Amino acid sequence: MTESKTAMITGIGGQDGSYLTEFLLKKGYKVRGIIRRGSYPNTKRIDHLIEKYESFDNKGELSITYSDLTDASSIRNAIEMFKPDEIYNLAAQSHVGISFTNGISTFDINARGVFRILDTIRNKGINCKYYQASSSEMFGISPPPQNESTPMLPQSPYGIAKLAGYHITKMHRNAYGMFASNGILFNHESPRRGVNFVTRKITRIFTEVILGKTDRIVLGNLDAKRDWGFSGDYVEAMWRILQHNEPDDFVISTGETYTIRDFLKEVCRNVDINLEWKGTGVDEIGYDTNTGKTLVSINPYYFRPAEVPALLGDSTKAREILKWKPKVMFKDLVNMMLKHDLEERGNEIRGRPVSLEEAKELASKLRN
Ligand code: NAP
Ligand code: GDD
Repeated sequence: MTESKTAMITGIGGQDGSYLTEFLLKKGYKVRGIIRRGSYPNTKRIDHLIEKYESFDNKGELSITYSDLTDASSIRNAIEMFKPDEIYNLAAQSHVGISFTNGISTFDINARGVFRILDTIRNKGINCKYYQASSSEMFGISPPPQNESTPMLPQSPYGIAKLAGYHITKMHRNAYGMFASNGILFNHESPRRGVNFVTRKITRIFTEVILGKTDRIVLGNLDAKRDWGFSGDYVEAMWRILQHNEPDDFVISTGETYTIRDFLKEVCRNVDINLEWKGTGVDEIGYDTNTGKTLVSINPYYFRPAEVPALLGDSTKAREILKWKPKVMFKDLVNMMLKHDLEERGNEIRGRPVSLEEAKELASKLRN
């Protein structure tokens, strides 16, 4: 019998880390993860896996240790202890808006953190493949569609830090012959998405509106276009990138793009609400054409100092070489996230899950 491979995941407690852990455990990998110390539990997304698989002797299916990408010696210790065959570097300050206020720490984690890991692998002579979680945010204002050859013109501290991480990864590949690859992933969402990213914010707060806990959803720029896929599909692409016979960089995307308005409209359509718009600029509102109820308004607080207007990925290279393609597309993604939030927030607010059918009935009665 062949020995199972060991994968180390930074950011194991994040959205993608949780799906990747499930995916790799199913493949028979031993999974090793790092989490950083938080004042509040940060393992909610993987508690079901910890309960079932964790062992503390570093021999079983799942082991986790404390480490932080800003702390080089903690990274070195984790890598030396886990001796991984593959490292998936998913840890990051991943919120673009917050990177404008926390620019330097974002750079330290998202750019210098990459260097700390690759430097350890190289200096300690560890024989492992490295995956870097690069981002479509690096394309910035380059017009769509974007592929591996599109110029990168990032607009945010997050995008700039990720672009540095991307080049640090390529440099280790080119200069030292390391197996270091970039996945340039377009936006991907799920019921486990952080609650302050726009998709999850919308499905969660819309649920609260339906349940009468909140009045409306308050957002920033509604015109940005994003290519939204499902995190569960995208973690498979990460794995395929490291199984390819040579290190390389790949765009991963659905090839469809929608505005924030489209996302809102689709959420509403799920409960038979027809959402339309009136007013202009910051006074614009989104309302239900049947009941007149205001469902969406704007607060400039959520505008960013610079914006990425349109992302649309061309993932032909990954589809042809890695034989990867997305399974969950826009409408199913919206439906999955809304159903989850009706269940979760239903439980929290009403003490029981709320079904889509019940949500439709509640929605038909909403008034200002
Ligand atoms: P996420 O849910 O925000 O997860 C990020 C993880 O990184 C969290 O577990 C976080 O821990 C951890 N982390 C943050 N700073 C750290 C540090 N200094 N040391 C150790 N761990 C740290 O993000 P995601 O959506 O899963 O995304 C995964 C990766 O892909 C990120 O690098 C992101 O930038 C990149 N990416 C995401 C997308 C997307 O649309 N989701 C697209 C392209 C690229 P805490 O829980 O303690 O905060
Ligand atoms: N978060 C948020 N909150 N975004 C809003 C809001 C709001 O209230 N209102 C409008 N938006 C707009 C943002 O201005 C942006 O144009 C768009 O919605 C998407 O915002 P996010 O969901 O925060 O995602 P992002 O595109 O900035 O970044 C995500 O995707 C990147 C890949 O392109 C993150 O997951 C990054 O980590 C990832 O690299």
